[in-house]
Parts: sequence; C-alpha cells; structure tokens
Amino acid sequence: MTVILSFVYLTILSFSMSGQAANLTSIEILNNCSYTIWAAANPGGGKQLNKGQTWTLTSVTGSGRIWGRTNCAFDDHGRGKCDSGDCGGLLECDRRNGRAPHTVAEYSMNQVESGNDAFFVSVVDGFNIPMEFTLSSSSSGVCGQSTSSCAGDINGPCPIELRDPGGCNNPCTVFRNSQFCCNTGSICEPTSYSKFFKDLCPEARTYPSDGTRGYCPNGRNSYKVVFCPSTASSTILPTPNRKPLRTIHFQFGFSNMPCGMGSNMVF
Ligand SMILES: *[C@@H]1O[C@H](CO)[C@@H](O)[C@H](O)[C@H]1NC(C)=O
Ligand SMILES: *[C@@H]1O[C@H](CO)[C@@H](O)[C@H](O)[C@H]1NC(C)=O
Repeated sequence: MTVILSFVYLTILSFSMSGQAANLTSIEILNNCSYTIWAAANPGGGKQLNKGQTWTLTSVTGSGRIWGRTNCAFDDHGRGKCDSGDCGGLLECDRRNGRAPHTVAEYSMNQVESGNDAFFVSVVDGFNIPMEFTLSSSSSGVCGQSTSSCAGDINGPCPIELRDPGGCNNPCTVFRNSQFCCNTGSICEPTSYSKFFKDLCPEARTYPSDGTRGYCPNGRNSYKVVFCPSTASSTILPTPNRKPLRTIHFQFGFSNMPCGMGSNMVF
C-alpha cells in the first residue's frame, strides 16, 4: 500500500513539475497583413506566414529579434532572397540579422533590472511592415508598460533621402555618420529623423539610445507580435518607479550588423 501511494505521489509530483517547466515565456507571431510575410527570428529561424497564420516561439530566453520579410522566393534548400528584411538569402535567419530597412520586435527576457522582461518595436533600422509587440497573458504581476507598436503609415510620408525600395530606411545606414549610428561611445540624442519616426510611432524605439520599451516582471509570460496590427492607438500605461536606463554593449558579431547593435543600445 505504501509503495502504491508513494508511486502515485511521485507521479503527481513529476506531472506538476513538468507542467511548471512547460510554462516558460512564449511569443506568438501573427501575420495580420493582407499579404504573405516571411517572419524571421534571431534566434529562432524563419517561417512563411500567409495572411492570418501564426508561428509560436516557445521557451524564449535571453535577447533576440523578430522581423518580417517581404516578396521572398526560396528554393527547396531554403535559399533565395527577399525584397526587404533579407538575412543573407536564407529562409532560416537563426544567428543572422536582416538587411535594413526593416521594423524589428526586440526582447530581452529576465535580464533587465533584477530579472524583468523588456521588449519593444524598433525602427532604429528603419521600417518595412507595421508591427506591435504586446503582453498577452502573465502570471507574474503588473507590467510597467505592456505594449509597444509602430502601426502608422511610415512609408508614405518617409523623407525622400530615406526612401528605399524595401521601405523607409534609417539615417545611419544612409549617411553612415556617428551622430546617427551612435558609435562614439556615449549616449546619443534624438535627431530630426528619429523625431519623424517618433511623431508617427510614439511607442516605438526610434534611435539607438531611445529608452522606450515595454516592461514586465519575468515569469510565465506570453507575448504576441502582430504584423499589421489595428491602427487604433493602443493604451500606454505609466511606467512607475523606473530606474535610470543602463547602457549595455552587446555584440552578436554576425554579418549584417544592424545600426542599433554593437553601439550604445539601452534595454
Ligand atoms: C501552466 O499554464 C496553464 C495555462 O495557463 C495553467 O493552467 C497551469 O496551471 C500552469 N501550470 C503551472 C505549474 O503553473
Ligand atoms: C488585424 O487587422 C484588422 C484591420 O485590417 C484589425 O481590425 C484587427 O484589429 C487586427 N488584428 C490585430 C490582432 O491587431
């Protein structure tokens, strides 16, 4: 009897432990655009998403980037090219970033200010597709800010000198100077170009030292990244007790180094 009971007990225990392990941070990526997108994630890979399709990244840890590519064609070996966001001609972007201009959803899970999640939509590398990054459910408490998006029409009013066949480019890629690229070793100020993006997308990160971000306690959180979200403006909650931003230098060391990387980026 004792043997049976302890077997039952152990089974229940291991069930609840495996349930716990399955509840890690996840990110669901939805293509809500009327056209096909080839979603890309570094780390994570890449996937064609037709209108309405989703792709879920599970057990997300550390830092990473998610973006969309347009008008791609790949062969059976996952080699080809895209008009925007291309990562060296590969379907699977794992360990490779995309070519500017492209909108990016960035995250840093469980690493910011004693174990919180930071996440945001960035136009630091320019804009190709409207995107939104939001918390969809959490069992870990109240977020400082639970959404970040750039859903406005950026390509239409894009300044002539930043226009690109793939979207609206960033001034670092176009002009290659230290003011725009923020590679002088100090925190950089906004520029007239970053203000152009900020006016249209106040919730998005618009230049390398821009501290705008979503911010949630780490835990069993699920996030959602939506391409072509509703353009109705989303609610921004105040960010209570936010400590000064910390500058971190992080280098991926891959080809296609985006402008916000390896420079003075804040999380
Ligand atoms: C894991 O998440 C599911 C769905 O939210 C929940 O029902 C379950 O209780 C969670 N498990 C643990 C161990 O927290
Ligand atoms: C998808 O786009 C439609 C408009 O085309 C919008 O009404 C809807 O809210 C969007 N869905 C999401 C999840 O943003």
